[in-house]
Amino acid sequence: MSDWDRTFLGMRMQQSVGIVLALNSLFEMLKPRRIIELGTGYGGLTVCLGIWGYTHLIPVYSFDATPRHWSLGTMLAVLGVRLIREDIFGYEEAIARLVQRHGITLLLCDNGDKKREVNTFAPYLKMGDTIMLHDYSADGSVSHEVEYADIQATCVRCGLVPIMPEEFRPFNWGVFRKDGKSDEG
Ligand SMILES: C[S@@+](CC[C@H](N)C(=O)[O-])C[C@H]1O[C@@H](n2cnc3c(N)ncnc32)[C@H](O)[C@@H]1O
Repeated sequence: MSDWDRTFLGMRMQQSVGIVLALNSLFEMLKPRRIIELGTGYGGLTVCLGIWGYTHLIPVYSFDATPRHWSLGTMLAVLGVRLIREDIFGYEEAIARLVQRHGITLLLCDNGDKKREVNTFAPYLKMGDTIMLHDYSADGSVSHEVEYADIQATCVRCGLVPIMPEEFRPFNWGVFRKDGKSDEG
């Protein structure tokens, strides 16, 4: 099992487990009104998101076309996580409506095509909303799926600026908040 496909407190999570503490800091700073995960996978990270949602009374949505979270199904149900079995690119309008609800949205992109996810969903973000993507290396110095050049045009067009890069770089996540000058209003 690699560093990117671990168990955390017995739950399978395709992450380095340090991401949980980095997310805790991000949640405390952002105080999101909702969390949307694109890519449930085995569900370990979803449980972590769900615990924040449960303790802070905010909804957590997680999408996967081919979910594998069955061993964590009871826990996810207790936490009230809303699991949606859909292809995210065929469900774009519904995801956009969720993102655009009142209050800060945190959108995690962890599907099979993160570049397409960011380029598809970032244009729907409101001011203060934050989008993050896994398997990201800003300068491509680490061999990963996406580097900044792949999403630069979208970041500039939508007014997205990187936040907490030092905290998330070790876990190969990039985090961007819509709070810069935007030509999309
Ligand atoms: C890397 S795993 C998610 C890992 C999980 N977030 C974690 O941290 O443990 C990616 C998931 O995305 C799902 N997926 C890939 N393409 C998709 C699509 N177009 N729509 C919905 N789900 C998709 C796959 O079924 C897979 O379970």
